[in-house]
Amino acid sequence: MMRIGKFIATVAIIVGLLPAWSIAMKQRMNKSIPKELFGKTADGQDVNIYTLTNSKGAEARIMTYGGIVVSLKVPDKNGKLGDIVLGHDDLAGYTKDNSPYFGALIGRYGNRIGHGKFSLDGHEYTLPKNNGENTLHGGNKGFDKAIWKAQESNGKDGPVLTLSYLSKDGEEGFPGNLSVTVVYTLTNNNELKIDYSAKTDKTTVVNLTHHSYFNLAGGGKILDHEVMINADKFTPTDEGLIPTGDLALVKGTPMDFTKSTKVGARIGDEFKQLKLANGYDHNWVLNKDKDKMTHAATVYESTSGRVMDVYTTEPGIQFYTGNFLDGTIIGKGGIAYQQRTGLCLETQHYPDSPNKPSFPSTTLKPGQKYSTTTIYKFSTR
Ligand code: BGC
Repeated sequence: MMRIGKFIATVAIIVGLLPAWSIAMKQRMNKSIPKELFGKTADGQDVNIYTLTNSKGAEARIMTYGGIVVSLKVPDKNGKLGDIVLGHDDLAGYTKDNSPYFGALIGRYGNRIGHGKFSLDGHEYTLPKNNGENTLHGGNKGFDKAIWKAQESNGKDGPVLTLSYLSKDGEEGFPGNLSVTVVYTLTNNNELKIDYSAKTDKTTVVNLTHHSYFNLAGGGKILDHEVMINADKFTPTDEGLIPTGDLALVKGTPMDFTKSTKVGARIGDEFKQLKLANGYDHNWVLNKDKDKMTHAATVYESTSGRVMDVYTTEPGIQFYTGNFLDGTIIGKGGIAYQQRTGLCLETQHYPDSPNKPSFPSTTLKPGQKYSTTTIYKFSTR
């Protein structure tokens, strides 16, 4: 009798202590992911920022406004950490109207939709035109301007920030309640891994991407960065940067990055596609098998020795050379961001896919799961 009584008492003590123990464990596990208030939006909502540090000391600071990567510090060839993304020191910089999507998560439809229109199941949907005649990066208030719910944790590969957002049926003209989750992991291998997933309750279109402006030297122009893109074709565009629907061969043109080439080597060439976009601002059709994870691109910067490899399950990548930066945006440390001081490699489905039946589909139906992964891996040479 006594023994049973003692046993029950012991179990009761253990069960009683469990919640406290689990909180203590959680706190210990999350110790390396501090959360701070970064600022408040104009309508008074709190915006938090999380600092993810991996076992090698690399650091990513990510905020709940737009899921924006505010800073990303990786080592150079001497092991010295440096911030390699453009952005601002405070929230106010990001919430201004002229913000060019620095570091943001982009949705519901990354890149352009021609004439702000598309049809699904016989119904025509109209979107806000925020880029001339077209819709860019999800409309006036895309996912880059949403406040995401955040949960930090320590995964087996490194610190994790899980962001979620419910984009309501009709938001920016898109059909269906879209429940989106984006998981950022700063792996102990110096990779920024981004897993995107989404579900809808009505047939819709989805194309999620990430919009960091990288500068592997940590400053200056990106014209000496060497770029390789694993693509034999790209999607030429009209003057509004909407694909014509053709897939053009890169061979023999300044669009050929199959061999590593300096960004500036041919950017000024008399080539119609470069003139239309004021530089590189096109979607490359990645050489790949279906939606398998493949090596999409490599960027190398010789003074820092930094290398960035991009891997993705997506079929395309937008290579944008910061052509529209013109010195009017004042960024981190009071620096005016001049033209071509950052480059973007936005993994994605091709622009205007909802209006291009020959392009891989961006349609998501109820019951289906949208799921893509992109990895930016950093090393040195
Ligand atoms: C687009 C550019 C645009 C930039 C910033 C890129 O994804 O391709 O045309 O200027 O985003 O808005």
